This record gives sequence, structure tokens and C-alpha cells, in this order.
Amino acid sequence: MRNLFPSYIRVPLVFFTIFGLIEFFMDSGEKPAFIEYPIIMLFLVLVFLIIIAIEVIIAALENIMFQSLDEAAKTRYLASKYKTIKFTWLSNTYKKLVGTKPLEKEHELILDHNYDGIRELDNDLPPWWLYGFYATIIFGAIYLARFHIFNGDNQYEELESAYAQAKIELEEYKKTAKDLVDYNTVTVLADAADISSGKTIFEANCVACHMADGGGGIGPNLTDKYWILGGGIKNVFRTISEGGRDGKGMIAWKQSLKPSEMAQVSSYVLTLQGNTPAKPKDPEGDIWVAEEAVKSEIPTEAMEVITDSIISIENETP
Ligand code: HEC
Repeated sequence: MRNLFPSYIRVPLVFFTIFGLIEFFMDSGEKPAFIEYPIIMLFLVLVFLIIIAIEVIIAALENIMFQSLDEAAKTRYLASKYKTIKFTWLSNTYKKLVGTKPLEKEHELILDHNYDGIRELDNDLPPWWLYGFYATIIFGAIYLARFHIFNGDNQYEELESAYAQAKIELEEYKKTAKDLVDYNTVTVLADAADISSGKTIFEANCVACHMADGGGGIGPNLTDKYWILGGGIKNVFRTISEGGRDGKGMIAWKQSLKPSEMAQVSSYVLTLQGNTPAKPKDPEGDIWVAEEAVKSEIPTEAMEVITDSIISIENETP
């Protein structure tokens, strides 16, 4: 066994086996264990030195043993030592694939003609080449049948179906990853469980200013059709997540609530619409007309350009 591999293969083999086992069994997070724990690095260095030491010691022992043998024993020893297992299967396969005739049989192949002493061998095609050629024929036949007779998907169609599949997977993912929602993507949650969690969140955080029935106090009335910062799920989500106008007292709840929770409480807030609170606060803001874009979706610069052009049109009209 020892003679099977030379030491320059044996040492790295043993070393990397130990290294691999350590990496496999040590839980070191993203980084490799020997970087995460410097002690492992030290250990590996020691392992490496010990393997080399073992090699050196065994070689030395072998040498001493060898020197103590008589001549006949030395030759026998050497003969057995170098009778290492040859990779006969590999070399046979290689010979078969290359398919050359041994030198002593070349006279069977030699052709008659002779150009100034240069003669030609009539070798068979090398089997590796021939089998490769057959393989391409089979490949070609299958390809032709698949794409030109049975109209298999070409790469555009494959791309499209991959896109469609990805879209489905994305939807699936979004269903499980509820916290991916923001004010651009939020939709009204109709699920009773979501509404009741929304209610719990509202009662825990919001009633101090908006009252349990949404009638309003420090904060505006949430049951009427009037909104200061815009109604509809997207605006409500945005107000809750980003907060109200400076100094008004409505903080940005994204600090303390998860996106999924803000979506639930937003949906709950919308269910308050039309309730008749005990002490309703007077309406503030404007009546909300649905389907209006979220204000922030139009960047301020663009808004200024639009306003400026409206003003200039107005100035031009006689
Ligand atoms: C400290 C008091 C306070 C708390 C607590 C509070 N709000 Fe408000 N809220 C306000 C004030 C004040 C405004 C008005 C902001 C403005 O005018 O810019 C407001 C505005 C709003 C609006 C927009 C109303 C409109 O007319 O546009 C919504 C929606 C809202 N709050 C929901 C909530 C929710 C949900 C919670 C709990 C997570 C909450 N608020 C907690 C004070 C509060």
C-alpha cells in the first residue's frame, strides 16, 4: 500500500483529507474553519509537520533495514519494492483507444510504395477518433429529429418558458416573504387573521393618538373620507412607515414595525372607514379620490417642471 503512491502524493492526500474532514465537521459559518478559528490553522500546520516527520522517519528506518541486508536480499527487496501496482486497466484502455500496432507488427501495415526511402503505414483510423465521429452522427440525428421534425423549443422559447417559470416562483416566494412589501407594492389584506393582527398592533401602538375607534385625538380621524396625507392602502402604508409631516407627532413606524405588520395595520386602518366613532375629530385634509398615484412616485423635480409648464401655459393664454 505504501508503495502504491509516492510520498509527494501521499503527504498532500493525507493532509487534505484531514483538512476536508475539519471543514466538513466544524461549523464555522460562511468562512472556512481555519480562518475563523486561528487555532485550527495552527493545528493544520502541526498536522503537516507531523506527516512529513512520519515520512522522514519511515524512510530512514527503511534505509537502515536495507543497509543491513546482504546483496541477494537487497536485489529481492528492490524487485518487490518496484513491482508497484501498475494502472494496467488505464494503460490498456489508452492503447485500445489509440489503436496503434506495436512496432514489431508494423510490417503487416506497410504499403508497397516507397518515396525516396519514405514509406507509408496503412494504419486504421484511431478508435477514439472513430467513436467520436459515430457519436457526432448519433448526436446529429437526434438533434435533427428533435428540433426540425418534432419542433423542439428553440432558445427563445426556452428563455420565455424559463421567464414564465421564474415569474411563478417569484410569486410563490413573495407569498412566503411577506416582509418584502413596501408602499409601492402593498395591497389591501382581506384575510381575517391579518386584519385581527392589524387590530392588535393598532391597539398596542396607535390608540393613544387615534383612539380605539379611530375617531382621532392628537392624530386625525381615521374613519372619515378626509385624508391629510392621502388615502388608499399605498398612502396609508407610506404614512405609517415613513411618518407624517415633521413636528406633527406621527412617527415613522418602520423603526419598530415589520413591513408585514405595517401592511396589516394599514389594512386594519382602512376597515375603520365609515365607522361612527364616539367623539369624532373634525375632518382634516381632502376627500380622497381613489386610484390617484402615490405622491412620491412623481419625483419633486418632475413635479416642478409640470407645475412650471402649467403656469407658463396659463400666462400665455390671453
Ligand atoms: C403620537 C401620536 C400618534 C401615534 C402614536 C400614531 N399616530 Fe398616526 N398620526 C398622528 C398625527 C399627529 C398624524 C397627522 C400627521 C400629519 O398631519 O402629518 C397622524 C396621521 C396618521 C395617518 C394619516 C392620516 C391622514 O389623514 O392622512 C395614519 C394612516 C395614521 N396616522 C396611522 C397611525 C397608525 C397605524 C399608528 C400606529 C402604528 C399611528 N398612526 C400612531 C399621531 C399619531
